[in-house]
Amino acid sequence: MIKISPSVLASDFSRLGEESILMKNSGADWLHLDVMDGHFVPNISFGAPVIKSIRGLTDLVFDVHLMISDPFKYAEDFASAGADIITFHYESNSDVSDTLDKIHSLGCKAGLSIKPGTPVESVFPFLDKTDMVLVMTVEPGFGGQSFMFDMMDKVKILKSEIAGRFLDVDIQVDGGINEETVRIAARAGANVFVAGSAVFKSDNPAAIIERLRNNALE
Ligand code: DX5
Ligand code: ZN
Repeated sequence: MIKISPSVLASDFSRLGEESILMKNSGADWLHLDVMDGHFVPNISFGAPVIKSIRGLTDLVFDVHLMISDPFKYAEDFASAGADIITFHYESNSDVSDTLDKIHSLGCKAGLSIKPGTPVESVFPFLDKTDMVLVMTVEPGFGGQSFMFDMMDKVKILKSEIAGRFLDVDIQVDGGINEETVRIAARAGANVFVAGSAVFKSDNPAAIIERLRNNALE
């Protein structure tokens, strides 16, 4: 199923609660929460206490994207803060299989993400225990970058692997998603679309979310 997950990284942090409620009222399915530690990526955003502070304001699915070192160690903090889905990076220093198990044991769905330079085949051994694969379409760390069209081959290969094994795994794309690139990513096989700038820099987020959804469904 198509899901639109606005990334609050592009929101006004001084009004994070209101922005989150606005996303719910604008038709978003999920809320994408980008956690950056200044170590795994060269930028720092926010952590579990901030996520916890808005958890009570909305029933949106909290789609937490951990761009951090040691995701195994911190998974529990994010589950306690109210994450529904916890996605971590294949390239992090935690054991992938153990971290997927840990996230599931905390009652959350588990996502596995790959940076642009990582071959998509890296995630194949883990697909049986992964709820979602995030194929990054920019280098993680910053919003507002341009969509990397050459990542679509990875999405196509992943889609065919998942179908061939009769698995139920979502394919998420994140970075540079707008009304045009969403079509390309959907045709390649993605079904969960993260959009930061496209949604939050708009005067009419509801209209953008609707267009993203319609264009993905085309
Ligand atoms: C980048 C983050 C993205 C980012 C997307 O490291 O993972 O979620 O917020 O922002 P846009 O949509 O502006 O590219
Ligand atoms: Zn993200």
